[in-house]
Amino acid sequence: MNAMQTENYNYKVVRQFAIMSVVWGIVGMAVGVLIAAQLMFPALNFDIPWLSYGRLRPLHTNAVIFAFGGCVLMATSFYAVQRTSHTRLFSDKLAAFVFWGWQLVIVLAAITLPMGLTSAKEYAELEWPIDILITIVWVAYAVVFFGTIMKRRVSHIYVANWFFGAFIITVAVLHLVNSMALPVDWSKSYSVYSGAIDAMVQWWYGHNAVGFYLTAGFLGIMYYFVPKQAGRPVYSYRLSIVHFWALIAVYMWAGPHHLHYSSLPDWAQSLGMVFSLILLAPSWGGMINGIMTLSGAWHKLRTDPIIKFLIVSLSFYGMSTFEGPMMSIKTVNALSHNTDWTIGHVHSGALGWVAMVSIGALYSLIPGLFGKKEMYSIRLINMHFWWSTIGVVLYIASMWIAGVTQGLMWRATNQDGTLTYSFVQSLEATYPYYGIRLLGGVIFLSGMFLMAYNVYKTVRNPQPADTAIPQPV
Ligand code: HEM
Ligand code: HEM
Repeated sequence: MNAMQTENYNYKVVRQFAIMSVVWGIVGMAVGVLIAAQLMFPALNFDIPWLSYGRLRPLHTNAVIFAFGGCVLMATSFYAVQRTSHTRLFSDKLAAFVFWGWQLVIVLAAITLPMGLTSAKEYAELEWPIDILITIVWVAYAVVFFGTIMKRRVSHIYVANWFFGAFIITVAVLHLVNSMALPVDWSKSYSVYSGAIDAMVQWWYGHNAVGFYLTAGFLGIMYYFVPKQAGRPVYSYRLSIVHFWALIAVYMWAGPHHLHYSSLPDWAQSLGMVFSLILLAPSWGGMINGIMTLSGAWHKLRTDPIIKFLIVSLSFYGMSTFEGPMMSIKTVNALSHNTDWTIGHVHSGALGWVAMVSIGALYSLIPGLFGKKEMYSIRLINMHFWWSTIGVVLYIASMWIAGVTQGLMWRATNQDGTLTYSFVQSLEATYPYYGIRLLGGVIFLSGMFLMAYNVYKTVRNPQPADTAIPQPV
């Protein structure tokens, strides 16, 4: 009997987080589809304040990053840390507290953001009582994770845990520093920072949220699930260590690229640009390490759709971490900033990398968690893969074209120095691309429904049904 059946490990909390990942993924992306539709048809807010774009947009970002992404990260980190440490979680009770505490944070966010309660800091919108709850739950999460590492039965700490650990510590520091605020009542507070310093702290937070939440955590997933699914060891363990330290050291300094041409001192902007350019190297080192792990097992790409999810997600990771350094060059940013190009970049990272690596990891994880050999239908995973890929490509390609069009139209001037185009003209030019983005979003979201059905059938069905596609030996 293997460890899964004997429940030597705490799989209950992993199961809970895994299922909620699918649920919150659908909710967060459905809100994304709604706001994408609102940008085309503003009347879709039905003149109801809590359906207005300004309130639903942070609901979308919070739901996909903290609810969907958070549940995926907690499920996979709790799973990987037990398996690689050969020991059960440090405390079952505390792990249960992390699960229910995190769900409470999510529900409170889903209530307060549509009500318009916000600290107005991007990706840190939640008001101070919820911030305190997040701090308590996060500390519990850290205790469970690092407590498990402390009681490990092997001397080695596998590299995936390094990445998960860095993500947990850094997010704690970022959250504490950026959320410092003076409350005026239960639902309103003001940041303790002001002016350019507030902006700098906010984007030090914002960029490192990308670097440690949306990147380091998901690289932990990559380092555990790509070798597991490929049945091969990591391509280069040495590279993974270099990758880790280089990424950690460089990410911290790149935040000012969000504040080019602002009142931030010029030297700080240039520093942000230079570190962003350097960041290409560790990012690609990690991507190459992940993709090359498939050496000798490339044939699996033909037959195993989970591998396809994982490898394509790494390709999007490579693309967005090439694009990011390019956009951080001041002259390029002069064109891209405030346009839909940024939105395209965000979603090539968020949908192409984060969502796809998560989906791959969940498909790999879920059958075993529920005592099944494999997912109910491999064919449905394959369909999901194609729908996701087509959805992402439609989304990001349309936003690139829209963004560059906007940037060029806004800067075009006539000989007498007046603007060639009005803002409304640039909006009109963007319209068709908003339609294509909406279509891409709908296709991606539909894939998530396929996943929900497949997961439901896997959990419920005593027998794996669709084994028509042969598994590689
Ligand atoms: C069906 C999938 C999705 C759709 C249709 C969608 C749609 C949208 C839309 C319409 C916006 C607002 C763009 C604007 O203000 O111009 C947005 C923003 C954003 N979305 Fe999504 N989204 C999806 C999935 C995701 C996922 C999975 C993530 C993260 C893991 C994500 C992260 C973000 C972020 C961070 C922003 C804010 C970007 C910024 O401020 O520059 N989205 N999304
Ligand atoms: C080497 C890696 C990367 C660099 C140097 C980088 C650089 C940049 C730059 C220059 C911007 C535009 C800032 C602006 O004009 O306002 C940006 C925006 C953004 N990037 Fe990246 N990026 C990288 C990777 C990623 C990845 C992998 C993701 C997602 C998983 C991501 C998510 C975002 C988000 C969410 C924003 C929008 C922030 C906002 O304004 O709300 N980035 N990035």
